[in-house]
Amino acid sequence: MVKIPAFEVEQWMDTYENTPGVLNIAETCASSISISQLAEFHSKSKDGSAPPVIDFSRPMTYGAIRGSDELRRNIAALYEGGDDHAAGALAPKDIIVTPGAIAANHLVFYTLIGPGDHVVCVFPTYQQLYTIPETLGAEVSLWRLKAEDQYVPDVSELERLIKKNTKMIVINNPNNPTGATTPRAVLAKVIEIARKHDIIVFSDEVYRPLYHGLPESDIPPSALSLGYQKVVATSSMSKAWALAGIRLGWIASRDKGIIEQLAMARDYTTISVSQLDDQVARYALSAEVRPALLRRNIELARTNLALLEKFVQDHADVCSWVKPTAGTTAFIRFSQKNGKPIDDEAFCKDVLDKSKVMFLPGTRCFGHGHDFNGFVRIGYVNGTDVVQKALENLHAYVAEHLS
Ligand SMILES: Cc1ncc(COP(=O)(O)O)c(C=O)c1O
Repeated sequence: MVKIPAFEVEQWMDTYENTPGVLNIAETCASSISISQLAEFHSKSKDGSAPPVIDFSRPMTYGAIRGSDELRRNIAALYEGGDDHAAGALAPKDIIVTPGAIAANHLVFYTLIGPGDHVVCVFPTYQQLYTIPETLGAEVSLWRLKAEDQYVPDVSELERLIKKNTKMIVINNPNNPTGATTPRAVLAKVIEIARKHDIIVFSDEVYRPLYHGLPESDIPPSALSLGYQKVVATSSMSKAWALAGIRLGWIASRDKGIIEQLAMARDYTTISVSQLDDQVARYALSAEVRPALLRRNIELARTNLALLEKFVQDHADVCSWVKPTAGTTAFIRFSQKNGKPIDDEAFCKDVLDKSKVMFLPGTRCFGHGHDFNGFVRIGYVNGTDVVQKALENLHAYVAEHLS
């Protein structure tokens, strides 16, 4: 049997997120909304003529196997035509719906990667993206993001990591945990290298399009929109759309062969997704709802990031960061006043114990044998009241304990 290492982020969340009285700033979803709140984002909600979110009269059949046409049309509309005008916009046939991005990611690796393959994966990132290919018998090279590069991947390093058997390059844009954006020009170079070596580019875009810190002109497109066929992108309703509880994600690709391979493998684990989830997601991504919902989440991210930035500035003697430009997470390094990094795991446990504030230790959850001494990941797009109170408590903790 394959030995499956612990998924550290998920284990940490599971262990601590139900601590009584917890101020959870570990969670990475834009503060989740209810179905009733979702209905209020509909452009016709004010005059009472908005349709209901769920049609309760529908028989609960399996529904459309790959996801309803309407949902897949709405998902396709999230991707621009891109630089390759010949490629055009995405269509429903280019999308497969899955139970969350976590299942989408798993399916991509399970279908496309096996023993003898080599995979390059940006690092740090969501552990699933390098651990699953390893458990499938592939060799994985980590492509390190560095604070001194603002966590933008260094493409010359990518060239050095490519081998004869490199099957896939895995990127994560916007990145978890750093909140950094990979710019369009860098994406284009990644695509150029992949094309030269005939490598699949797999882009986890679960935090797209939560671009809240960049001028419009600097917002990169999806990796799907740069004119290369062999790109697979995943995403979901959890982060930018504040609907993690419906467990709805997807895989998108312009490569018909890849989509058919994925659909065939998916038959063994997922007949279809919940038809209630499909209805909610299609409503949230409809042209009448999507703009207002995204605006709410971008505004929430901006408001809360300003609070976090003030905290980092006020505590510059003990913490430092590369300010995030997108997504919901920040990777912050804490040290003693003498500059010695704190033990991040002991720090997270002690902060939770003494001040009820929960966030994640960098080394344990993102280290994979490498060391992120002193780093913690904070999810700052939770409710503003939670973030505010958590930062007040953290301020008091730091004043007393980081000398
Ligand atoms: C980069 C990344 N990908 C995928 C996921 C899984 O998201 P979900 O299954 O809720 O869509 C997460 C969740 O934290 C994530 O951070």
